[in-house]
Amino acid sequence: MNDVAAAEQAAAELERLAREIAHHDRLYHQQDAPEISDAAYDALVRRNREIETDFPDLIRPDSPSRRVGAPPADGFAKVEHSTPMLSLDNAFDADDVIEFFARVRRFLGLGDDDAVDVLGEPKIDGLSAAVRYEHGRMVVGATRGDGVTGEEITANLRTIRDLPLVLDAADAPEVIEVRGEVYMARPDFLALNAAREAADEPVFANPRNAAAGSLRQLDSRITASRRLHFFAYGWGELSEPVAESQQGFLERVNGWGFTVNPLTRLCHNAADAVALHADIAERRSALPYDIDGVVYKIDRLDWQRRLGMVSRAPRWAVAHKFPAEQAETTLKEITIQVGRTGALTPVANLEPVTVGGVVVGRATLHNEDEIERLGVMEGDRVIIQRAGDVIPQVVEVLTDKRPADARPFTPPETCPECGSLSAREDGEAVRRCTGGLTCPAQAVERLKHFVSRDAFDIEGLGAKHIEAFREEGIIVTPGDIFRLEAREQAGEISLRTREGWGDKSAENLFAAIGERRRIGSDRFIYALGIRQVGQTTARLLARHYGTPAAWREAMETAQPREGEAFDDLVSIDGIGPVVAGDILDFFAEAHNQEVLADLESLLDVQPLEAPAATSPVSGKTVVFTGTLTTMTRAEAKARAESLGAKVAGSVSKKTDYVVAGSDAGSKAKKAAELGVEILTEEAWREMVGDAA
Ligand code: IVH
Repeated sequence: MNDVAAAEQAAAELERLAREIAHHDRLYHQQDAPEISDAAYDALVRRNREIETDFPDLIRPDSPSRRVGAPPADGFAKVEHSTPMLSLDNAFDADDVIEFFARVRRFLGLGDDDAVDVLGEPKIDGLSAAVRYEHGRMVVGATRGDGVTGEEITANLRTIRDLPLVLDAADAPEVIEVRGEVYMARPDFLALNAAREAADEPVFANPRNAAAGSLRQLDSRITASRRLHFFAYGWGELSEPVAESQQGFLERVNGWGFTVNPLTRLCHNAADAVALHADIAERRSALPYDIDGVVYKIDRLDWQRRLGMVSRAPRWAVAHKFPAEQAETTLKEITIQVGRTGALTPVANLEPVTVGGVVVGRATLHNEDEIERLGVMEGDRVIIQRAGDVIPQVVEVLTDKRPADARPFTPPETCPECGSLSAREDGEAVRRCTGGLTCPAQAVERLKHFVSRDAFDIEGLGAKHIEAFREEGIIVTPGDIFRLEAREQAGEISLRTREGWGDKSAENLFAAIGERRRIGSDRFIYALGIRQVGQTTARLLARHYGTPAAWREAMETAQPREGEAFDDLVSIDGIGPVVAGDILDFFAEAHNQEVLADLESLLDVQPLEAPAATSPVSGKTVVFTGTLTTMTRAEAKARAESLGAKVAGSVSKKTDYVVAGSDAGSKAKKAAELGVEILTEEAWREMVGDAA
């Protein structure tokens, strides 16, 4: 046989093998109904490999050999998600579920006769991943990361047999990004841990950690050996719509070779949903994988679009969690933890106990009122509970088991870290250390917050490093982080000669810090750790003021807590007088002003990208007033914000448009006085392109 003929024959056989192996993968993994023995399957894989060794040019994009993993990479590349990967709000009982349906109805302004269907899907306890296909081929896959940027783990995802390498469908869109949950089945988890124990290796705490550890492997051959699975439940970028409902979407991706969870059901109302939750809860222990609740998603995709998202969670979905897992143990001692804003939080130190597969040694007691409510003493037997990622808490004291030597807890008069007086202000549940930044614990917590994942997220600079660097005076204020490299070069410090460090780790850290000199203004504001300024408020401020300098100037002008700058601050929808007070308190401290000025000189803070710079209302300030007819007030506000407009609650000179529905009262009047343009609801819809 000549070379050409041999190659042709090899290509044909490789094609047949790819198809055949994919077919058996499907039977085995998705339908749990293998047609051939493992040995026969292995023989097919071996034959495929032999041919590929002889004809490496003929390796197909959908070749089964692409699932076996590749040698280690240097590190993970970053992938910017096409649309953010969101998290979910939780519901804990039937009332919360009823409220979810009511909220959706209110937002959409639905009548009593309009049915609201939701699709109920088990909430898989794994980790989410996004996999992108172009022209039917898997091109890139990523972890969720912080929801905006993830890690590129394509080689690892290729090893998961529930994920098609090639979509065997002519009707698949040109670009489709499928999102879903990667998980490890419990029998595989137990086998893996048994093997690790035998090899004297540390075991994984639960299947979710095992899945995460297996997926984030630089050596994808290790991932391949771990037998991970994937349930598809959502999408990112799509080059064309693929369905009109959540259920329709799952049916289509299932047709293209993805696995969807078989317990998924359509529910017509809250009662249906709660019944599904009970049904799935009953089957939970018999399932081969861990689930921690049921996710309800509004089935109509046009409604999902209208509902949009708040902060980082969609308005169109909710996770109805299973009750938290509980365990009994002894509370040995109550100690005090100092937070970044000086809050002194009592912490229960426990006799370690396993709750839902995780060993717990500490639980929060929240504050003094909570200790009083529980009536807890040191030495008591207590019930603790743990739900998902929430910090474990003490929920009950078993007073009939109280030992004779149990000791009541007295709130500390001074901060255990710095000795400053502690104080509890009227109406506040928390006691605080009055030491401010002279308290080393507060200073360290602020620094830890500054580098944390949702703030500067500096890889290689974790809480432990911050503690050590602060202790040694290497990092005292946030700006010091950005001076590390220069000081290393000047020979003032030497990270590369530290124990456990080397040239490479020091270089990596400097590079990671360098990457963060350019940062979004929302992250920047959040990183400052101002009391009550979480991610959502930080984003509001970033959007409203643009640059840190403009914001700082405005906050200085607003210090008297009256006048135009102050009115402007509290006119931001979502910022009330209390939060405004905390922000201004922060600016009133000279030290904070220094930190800010220092950072501004070191960093390149990027104004928040307006969500849609091309929209005719981006950057405009809009006030809605009166009764709207085609949308609810909440929907109008959400829509305007998604187009980059700022929505204010009151009319001022800075207002660009007042959208007046029927019965518009004083706000429309004030707009007229100030000469602010007043639009009808229809004119507004026309302007933003929503007119029917
Ligand atoms: S929907 C847009 N569906 O739960 C909504 N998430 O708490 C975001 N999860 O990060 C995801 N099963 O890792 C969705 N059927 C399901 C899920 C599910 C598990 C995870 C996912 C997500 C987390 C949010």
